[in-house]
Amino acid sequence: MIGAVPRDGHDDCVTAAFAGPTALHYRRYRRDVPEVLLDRLVEHVELPGDAIALDLGAGTGQVAVPLAARVGAVLAMEPEPDMLAQLRRRSEEDNVANLVCVLGSDQDVPALLNSVGRGGCGLLTVANALHWMDAPALFAAADRGLASGGAIAIITHGIPLWLTDADWARALNVYLADWFGRPLTASCGSDAAALRERRDQLVAAGFTEVAVLEHRYQADVDVDYVIGHLYSALDADVLPVARRPDFEDGLRQALRRFQEEPMQEDLLVTALVGRR
Ligand SMILES: C[S@@+](CC[C@H](N)C(=O)[O-])C[C@H]1O[C@@H](n2cnc3c(N)ncnc32)[C@H](O)[C@@H]1O
Repeated sequence: MIGAVPRDGHDDCVTAAFAGPTALHYRRYRRDVPEVLLDRLVEHVELPGDAIALDLGAGTGQVAVPLAARVGAVLAMEPEPDMLAQLRRRSEEDNVANLVCVLGSDQDVPALLNSVGRGGCGLLTVANALHWMDAPALFAAADRGLASGGAIAIITHGIPLWLTDADWARALNVYLADWFGRPLTASCGSDAAALRERRDQLVAAGFTEVAVLEHRYQADVDVDYVIGHLYSALDADVLPVARRPDFEDGLRQALRRFQEEPMQEDLLVTALVGRR
């Protein structure tokens, strides 16, 4: 179900799949969407507290879990079984009783929205995953199938870590370019051009009141976080497990001079929102 190349043609998005150890690292090293942005989103789209929300490409729950505290129920749809297994484990450990894990992809959205029944689905979220999907088809299905007054939110949680505007990240990028034999430049759907294109696609699909909500924050990172985060974006085909000790040694060496002080990541989180 998962293609090795994202649909937007950015074939250097690093990730090929999210199975096995990638899913484990994803759960440990990917931050949840900031609660403050979710609160603003729910308020902005006037989402009733008992609404059903669909989080598509849910991964290990970075939106689905915090969203569950704000709605009646979340359907967390995800095509990679290992990611879904991690999400299920997390939701059990966190005692999230109103989150349902659904194995499926964007292709299954029309049938899912049809099956939700009276009242329908009030919110569709897609976070950091749209570049794997057929966006125009998804937006058309959402416009047809969401509840009346329902909303869609395309969330982007910053740019790829290795493109951060900081000296430590530039050193990381040089190291990765050297390791992989090519520069990693793709924004994986996180750039301004992608935002504009998606906004136009939402309007073309019939969504109204299209707006962008933003939240900026800064996070400290250290070399262990960088390594774990990279493993959440690199599957074993891209970086075989047997080569990881060498990869880590080299990376620690490349970042050694930055470790006197905390390394920081500036994050801009956006939610592109439309109503139907
Ligand atoms: C980068 S992760 C994002 C996970 C989570 N939403 C987050 O914000 O961190 C992308 C997710 O999209 C899923 N995905 C890939 N292709 C998909 C598709 N066609 N339909 C739905 N999800 C897909 C992947 O399995 C992966 O879990």
